Amino acid sequence: MPQFNDTELTAAVVRSFEETPDPRVKFLMEELVKSLHDFVRKTDLTFDEWGSAIDFLTRVGQKCTPTRQEFILLSDVLGVSMLVDAVNHRERDGATETTVLGPFYVGEHKPMPHGADISANLTGERMFVKGRVTDLKGKPLAGVPVDVWHADDDGYYDTQRPMYETEGPSMRARFITDADGRFFFRTILPCSYPIPTDGPVGEMILQVRRHPNRPAHIHFLVAAPGHEPLITHVFIEGDKYLDTDVVFGVKDDLISKVEKRSDPVMPDGKPAAAPWHLMTYDFRVKPGVGAAPKPLMAATEDA
Ligand code: BEZ
Ligand code: FE
Repeated sequence: MPQFNDTELTAAVVRSFEETPDPRVKFLMEELVKSLHDFVRKTDLTFDEWGSAIDFLTRVGQKCTPTRQEFILLSDVLGVSMLVDAVNHRERDGATETTVLGPFYVGEHKPMPHGADISANLTGERMFVKGRVTDLKGKPLAGVPVDVWHADDDGYYDTQRPMYETEGPSMRARFITDADGRFFFRTILPCSYPIPTDGPVGEMILQVRRHPNRPAHIHFLVAAPGHEPLITHVFIEGDKYLDTDVVFGVKDDLISKVEKRSDPVMPDGKPAAAPWHLMTYDFRVKPGVGAAPKPLMAATEDA
């Protein structure tokens, strides 16, 4: 009957993976166990503490539904999502910076014509968004699908509202770049918002006295064939949470000045009511491969 002291125990568990056929799975399992065991040794973890951790993770799992992904939220607030992003995007070569996908991407965005209002007439300050997609040399890329999504001016995504089931999506759409790599649309000015705090991840954030907010932003997913899919946001300059984003997702290059305008027409020549805002951002994508991320609901159905 083998008996192990705490260091021998780690070596024994690592040895237990010896027959794993996939070398990458073997490596990941070994490193995971080593890091977990180190954590227990370093902290002299008590039974009560380990019990609380298991209870917490159980509640994280129980909070998940087809439209709510508490594990992604946990990964985001612990900085793991941004770390995975960082180690996978070490060399940008001048391409636009990446950031978290977040839990509110649902995929299958409905293609809309340039200039469309994606806010479905929600109240809020009006904004015109102009974008352009180029390669690293500045050559415009035509026919590229660009998915966009953002929160309303109360800080909620459409999927967080009961009417999503009956009325379908709002503040999310797909645009296809024109011959000059351009796309443009109308919407409302998004505001900063708290991540959902009615679950275990929110409880944890409040317990450690962190604020739960993200600075105002619009999400973009640029899926140019022959190029790495670009998952990013454009943040609005001046937001008070830019330095303390709860998911650590802000990068300087992604902050854009949003101009307040009072011209009577918007850039596409159509009339503008009241003052409006203009966001302009150019996206540079890098040659490469890679699939666009699986949306939350599809990922759940596959499981
Ligand atoms: C978001 O920006 O949609 C988001 C990202 C991470 C956690 C929660 C929300
Ligand atoms: Fe967001």
